[in-house]
Amino acid sequence: MEQDVRSEIEELREAIRRHNYLYYVLDKPKISDAEYDALFRKLQKLEETHPNLVTPDSPTQRVGAPPAQGFATATHAVPMRSLANAFNVDELRDFDRRVRKLLDAAEVTYLAEPKLDGLSVELVYRDGLFVQGSTRGDGVNGEDVTANLRTIRSIPLRLQGLGRRVPSLLEVRGEVYIDKGDLTRLNRQREKEGLALFANPRNLAAGSLRQLDPRVPASRPLKIFCYDIGRVEGVAIDTQAELLETLFQLGIRVNPLYRLCKGIDEAIAFYGQVKETREELPYEADGVVVKVNEFASRRILGEVSRSPRWAIAGKFPAEQGITKLEDIIVQVGRTGTLTPVAVLEPVRVRGVTISHATLHNEDEIRRKDIRIGDTVVVQRAGDVIPQVVRSLVKRRTGEERLFVMPDTCPVCGSRVVRYKGEVAHRCLNLSCPARIKESILHFVSKGGFDVDGFGTKLVDQLVDKGIVKRVSDIFHLDRDTLIGLERMGEKSASNLLSALEKSKSIAPPKILFALGIPEVGEHTAGLLAEAFEGLQELMEATEEALCALPEIGPRTAAAIVDFFANQPNKKMVSELLDAGVKITEVPKKASARTLEGKRFVLTGRLVSMPRGEAGERIKRLGGMVSSSVSLRTDYVVVGENPGAKADKARKLGVATLTEAEFLALLKADA
Ligand code: IVH
Repeated sequence: MEQDVRSEIEELREAIRRHNYLYYVLDKPKISDAEYDALFRKLQKLEETHPNLVTPDSPTQRVGAPPAQGFATATHAVPMRSLANAFNVDELRDFDRRVRKLLDAAEVTYLAEPKLDGLSVELVYRDGLFVQGSTRGDGVNGEDVTANLRTIRSIPLRLQGLGRRVPSLLEVRGEVYIDKGDLTRLNRQREKEGLALFANPRNLAAGSLRQLDPRVPASRPLKIFCYDIGRVEGVAIDTQAELLETLFQLGIRVNPLYRLCKGIDEAIAFYGQVKETREELPYEADGVVVKVNEFASRRILGEVSRSPRWAIAGKFPAEQGITKLEDIIVQVGRTGTLTPVAVLEPVRVRGVTISHATLHNEDEIRRKDIRIGDTVVVQRAGDVIPQVVRSLVKRRTGEERLFVMPDTCPVCGSRVVRYKGEVAHRCLNLSCPARIKESILHFVSKGGFDVDGFGTKLVDQLVDKGIVKRVSDIFHLDRDTLIGLERMGEKSASNLLSALEKSKSIAPPKILFALGIPEVGEHTAGLLAEAFEGLQELMEATEEALCALPEIGPRTAAAIVDFFANQPNKKMVSELLDAGVKITEVPKKASARTLEGKRFVLTGRLVSMPRGEAGERIKRLGGMVSSSVSLRTDYVVVGENPGAKADKARKLGVATLTEAEFLALLKADA
């Protein structure tokens, strides 16, 4: 029986690995998503009922790790070097001349590959199993980000044999990146949620891999292309072309776009070709890497100042333009943040006209020494909002003016504050028309009350005329008031009124989103709605309780508590309910019984919650709490000033958990 299950599990894993490979590495799926999901769920079920058969290389084990406290250092046995740059074709020729001279060769074979904008990492495979992954760091010591890398679907947890033997050791290097389209989608979503945008794929990759909670990278569509190795044992690889072929055979994702070039002219042709067609590539390429193909030649060439002499990055000119910064205006957002925006003399950069660019905040303007009237370099980074890169100081005439953040709000005139430790200046006036307008637009947006026909023009009029002073006022609008507005006929007025009426019955996550709590976007609102019985319960939640929820970090927890500690916000909720807003009931999902059958003993004081609550939460997840430690105990949670129970646990070899580990276990309830 056990044997049958074992082989069924192995077959399912093989099938899932194969389909993962076809989908994520080759980009050629053979089955539908639904069929894949069915296989995956079947495996999950079998593993749930046979936990002793779960292995770390099982496809179900990608996102299992609890949040880390920090990252351990990982040392690269062979240092990870960086590349010297060539900024034009002449510099590529200089490189070739040096190489030929040192090798005493008339012509050298190169392998040229696109240079990806991402973050380089090293993956270590022992006997075919992915055992460690790390960032480049300073080239010798990086950070161990194994748990995060495991969540990237194009990184195999186990290498494919494919007829040949799997190397006993393989240290493979590559670039973690995101496709341009995925970055745009992600940023669009983040913009909606009021979160900071990622300026480029590299920032996103670095930001994702440095997350303590692997669920963050797991939720982002990161990919990898591998292009280099460190140590390898058990296979012989003598050229870059063989390297790429071997990696491919082992099931590792390599960029299919590369060219083996006889001499530098062919490499230069490839450089030109990628430069001209890079718009069409799904990923951001910022150059072409030209590498000497033969490893024997590489050994002769060696390296200088942390870069190999056998490779060079031919960089593409950046997507930049030069223009005049005519003015800096200040916009007020929904949460009162003042954002300086550069007004530019329109300039075309690779086919797109740029007339505005964000300057983020006052510190950024100071740091870059950007002045009104300056000639500036602007760039488009990926598909993100344009940026001002720097000022051309030499072109100053003396007429330029320094920008100072106004000390009163440009819209309502109330005092502007900047909290300690924050870069943002804020207008604190909850009745500031700019804030009200933005709040209302957010309130009626798709993710919130989703009121059809409630656009900017209407909101401007309603707020400017003093008809709407707070969000709940929109539910008190009547026909006569609406008809008195510009561009509002009988028909649109009655449509709007019925849309408003319809929107009053709203699901819990949508109202949570609509309230406009800082840090709470649609996704977080969904998590909160699931975790709390009702709005009242959420309004009374402590930071600790919020922090213990899956995916809720200390910043979000603090933002929620602050928000509801604010009297006008509480008032807003009651005004909405008074206006007839009804929160629809959703059948509450039974919480996952992730601690089913596990026996816990608690000892010492817990900082985040009273022991009673800890016990409750263990039980809610299917676990049990007993008062004494025995061999049947699964975990002893050790708080501050623990008693003899902690010692007994150690003696008996029972697993102990710190409070943080315990919280992570509770969070695994996601
Ligand atoms: S080869 C010894 N190939 O560029 C150099 N690097 O400044 C080994 N990169 O740290 C790197 N695409 O992050 C190589 N096709 C490619 C690359 C690539 C991007 C990055 C990598 C490296 C940096 C070099």
